[in-house]
Amino acid sequence: MSEKVTLAIAGLGTVGGAVLRQLRDNADVIAARCGSRRIEVVAVSARDRNRDRGVSLDGLAWHQDALELVDVKDVDIVVELIGGQDGVAKALIEKALRAGKHVVTANKAACAHHGVAFAELAQTGDVQLRFEAAIAGGVPVVKSIKEALAGNRIRELRGILNGTCNYILTSMSQSRCSYDESLAEAQRLGYAEADPSLDVGGIDAAHKLALLSALAFRHRPAFDAVQVEGIEAVTQEDIGFAQEFGCEIRLLATARRHDNDEIEQWVRPALVPRDSLLAHVQSARNGISLRGDFGGNLFFAGDGAGGEATASAVVADIIDIVAGRCVFPLGAALSSLPECSALSPSKSRGCFYLRLHATDRAGSMAAITRELASAEISIEQIIQTAAPARDEEAKAHSGRLPVALLTHEACESVMRGVLDGLAKHRDIIASPLLLRMEAR
Ligand code: HSE
Repeated sequence: MSEKVTLAIAGLGTVGGAVLRQLRDNADVIAARCGSRRIEVVAVSARDRNRDRGVSLDGLAWHQDALELVDVKDVDIVVELIGGQDGVAKALIEKALRAGKHVVTANKAACAHHGVAFAELAQTGDVQLRFEAAIAGGVPVVKSIKEALAGNRIRELRGILNGTCNYILTSMSQSRCSYDESLAEAQRLGYAEADPSLDVGGIDAAHKLALLSALAFRHRPAFDAVQVEGIEAVTQEDIGFAQEFGCEIRLLATARRHDNDEIEQWVRPALVPRDSLLAHVQSARNGISLRGDFGGNLFFAGDGAGGEATASAVVADIIDIVAGRCVFPLGAALSSLPECSALSPSKSRGCFYLRLHATDRAGSMAAITRELASAEISIEQIIQTAAPARDEEAKAHSGRLPVALLTHEACESVMRGVLDGLAKHRDIIASPLLLRMEAR
């Protein structure tokens, strides 16, 4: 690398614009961290040249086709901020790595699905591939696992990894906003993906979890092994029940290494106690708790979405490369990383929250408890509410008895069997909702 390190940036949306502003506004801080090397952005590519990004593009070569950035003379680092699992983003990352360019990306979807292929190209070409910004925005959890905790065995990690879902769930809980209003606001604030179903459907968090699990437990990313449920079925009623149980609902991403080395990975809405650290992660913030065998319990939290927080992670990765710090893309040499040995979902165990609407008549509650008892599932708490006070809700719920309960630990497959039994029961109206209840 020459004294001047040249950058080409593909994608100048919320994050790309913030990267340019940070490189300009914090040039002195960044220069001090880079030693004798100086960063210079030479070329950019984006859909719309005229959009106001709060930063001048004067002097930067403009390329309509992002793939051309790799061919720009003497470019050292290609920054991919286009996003998307395949298409141009994937092609650009591969082309850049093959051409011997370092790559910095915020692309969780592409890394979760193609991370092994990317890491192979990076290792072969002896270049860096970094993706801190892909997970939890400005929270430096990738670097912490790969470097600060490098000598630890990690058994479990839990995270709130999607800012949009957390924004929706906390607005529904605190401001009683509707799901649709909260989602619209998260989109306006620039937290949501171009396709917000990736957020609310849990896929975005699953991409991030697949990568975190691979880094923490030293296996190849296995997106298909992540059990995923989104937040679409969570209602204001569930938020109210959760509060009565002393909890909040969060979209939780959990990865656990079991004693037989099988890895359990799931993303789903879950109840967490109101006084837990995870419940205190609010709005678009993200939080990750993990335990290292020597490092002990750690909790990371911060802005998980939005231009500036994500740019902060992108710029840190750029500085690492410029300063000459080298790490394996997936935290260890690819040859040492086995495929993920996934726990069968039927073996997963946990405590559950079950909400259903039963016919308001004698014996319907007994039918519910009988179904659970016959599966040897023990109830920890149960709430049955009166008809809702608000007129329209009262109409919608007329003749219905909303019931919510928490179970003691049970096997997920047995619990699902109970759910199927209940769904067919003549006293159960509409589909019951099953969520996890996480103790800490
Ligand atoms: N759509 C993502 C989120 C952006 O809401 O968390 C950050 O990855």
